[in-house]
Amino acid sequence: MPTICLRDVTMDNFRACVKLSVRDEQRDFVADNTWSLAQAYVNRRLHPYAIYRGDVFGREITPDDAMVGFVMFQVWDEIGFIMRLMVGAEHQRQGYGRAAMVEVIRRLKATTQVDRIATSVIPSNEAALQLYLSLGFEPFDEKGGELYLRLPWGRDARE
Ligand SMILES: CC(C)(COP(=O)(O)OP(=O)(O)OC[C@H]1O[C@@H](n2cnc3c(N)ncnc32)[C@H](O)[C@@H]1OP(=O)(O)O)[C@@H](O)C(=O)NCCC(=O)NCCS
Repeated sequence: MPTICLRDVTMDNFRACVKLSVRDEQRDFVADNTWSLAQAYVNRRLHPYAIYRGDVFGREITPDDAMVGFVMFQVWDEIGFIMRLMVGAEHQRQGYGRAAMVEVIRRLKATTQVDRIATSVIPSNEAALQLYLSLGFEPFDEKGGELYLRLPWGRDARE
């Protein structure tokens, strides 16, 4: 698995972030990063991050071309909900999506308030579904055209 680094989206890197896009046939699976950043601006429960290749660790200025994707999570009550994972079309299938999920899960598990970790996916999104299942997520509900999955961890492991 490649190393990755999650960084805040700031004045310095938001242009690169909004320029990232998925493959044409994947556009219905995830909102544009512009939309996600606007949502995060008005909803402080949302935590948006740019995903960077890890081989730029230690460099003071991170070049835009080292940004490979975007991910956001919401912390609300005891639930850490992962959403809007995307890896730029030219960076896909190199392990960045998996590495970013592993890091987000690590952060959520370390968040005192969080006792449940969940996500959702459009069921026809084979790539994302396979990724989430391989990380141990288990489906528990389907509504509004989305399949909801959770990790057997925390409260969901105890119950
Ligand atoms: C889903 C997504 C984030 C995966 O990112 P990625 O960096 O390409 O994925 P990885 O290289 O880390 O691969 C992780 C796993 O995902 C699955 N996967 C990724 N791309 C796949 C594809 N084209 N077809 C089938 N499975 C795929 C595989 O299970 C893979 O594991 P493997 O390499 O051991 O077979 C990326 O395809 C994407 O941005 N898709 C469009 C946006 C989207 O659908 N986001 C999810 C919203 S719920």
